[in-house]
Amino acid sequence: MAKAVLLEREGRVAILTVNRPDKLNALNNEVRDLTLEYLAEVENDDSVGVVVVTGAGDKAFIAGADIKEFEGRSPFDQREAMRFPRVFDVMANFPKPVIAMINGFCLGGGCELSMSCDIRVASDRARIGQPEINLGLIPGGGGTQRLPRLVGVGQAMKLILTGDMIGAEEAQRIGLVDDVVPHDELRTKTLELANKIASKSPVTLRVAKEAIRASERMSIEDGIVYERDLFCLCFSTEDKAEGVDAFLGKRKAEWQGR
Ligand code: COA
Repeated sequence: MAKAVLLEREGRVAILTVNRPDKLNALNNEVRDLTLEYLAEVENDDSVGVVVVTGAGDKAFIAGADIKEFEGRSPFDQREAMRFPRVFDVMANFPKPVIAMINGFCLGGGCELSMSCDIRVASDRARIGQPEINLGLIPGGGGTQRLPRLVGVGQAMKLILTGDMIGAEEAQRIGLVDDVVPHDELRTKTLELANKIASKSPVTLRVAKEAIRASERMSIEDGIVYERDLFCLCFSTEDKAEGVDAFLGKRKAEWQGR
């Protein structure tokens, strides 16, 4: 039987594909466990610089948590299913950049997973929303916290309280996705972006991501002090010495990842 998540490598990019197209790639326990397993695998693989997350088929990125699993569950069962580590947080704090390649319905936990990624590239056919309200639920994968940080409280309220889906253009207008591309060009354009990022120094990417993530939890004053410390930390790397030397020597830098 096909695995619920597929892992492939293209150059320095690892592509994780949620592979339940007949269920619109709904997130079930198997998807969560396999995603965590593959993330652990690529975390320590120096040949991987960037991770891309997407959904199998032409219709859906991820249409949310698997609603079938909710049926008959007690609060304790549900808590066990939501045990730590949670895939949303692992992705947000993953030491390598993660890009969501949104190829269709991106709903509920799918929208939340995309918000845990560092950059969102959407097909012009994507439909995005947090429809949990229609099930008597609220978002449970970080949506009530990450969505307002991305789009502001008013737009987050509108999406979560109405449960409405919006198109890719509207999602880009409010800041929920970063790029919208023609459906047929989604993979090419996303991999172009992923490869460009993967060509940079891995150690510097890691520090840059950590500094930007810190902005989500720190005051501006503390964040700027933290940034200064991380900036100075870069002076300890071989890649900083190489980058500066290459610029001054008018040659291309060769990153060591140290
Ligand atoms: N959980 C479990 N199964 C899901 C699912 C989900 N979140 N989303 C879709 N599916 C299943 C459907 O039950 C259907 O399965 P079936 O063929 O065995 O009946 C299959 O995927 C195809 O979905 P279908 O509803 O027939 O496609 P559609 O094009 O008519 O509608 C959606 C697409 C996305 C509008 C609709 O599937 C939907 O509303 N899904 C639920 C979205 C949601 O509420 N997500 C948040 C969950 S907390």
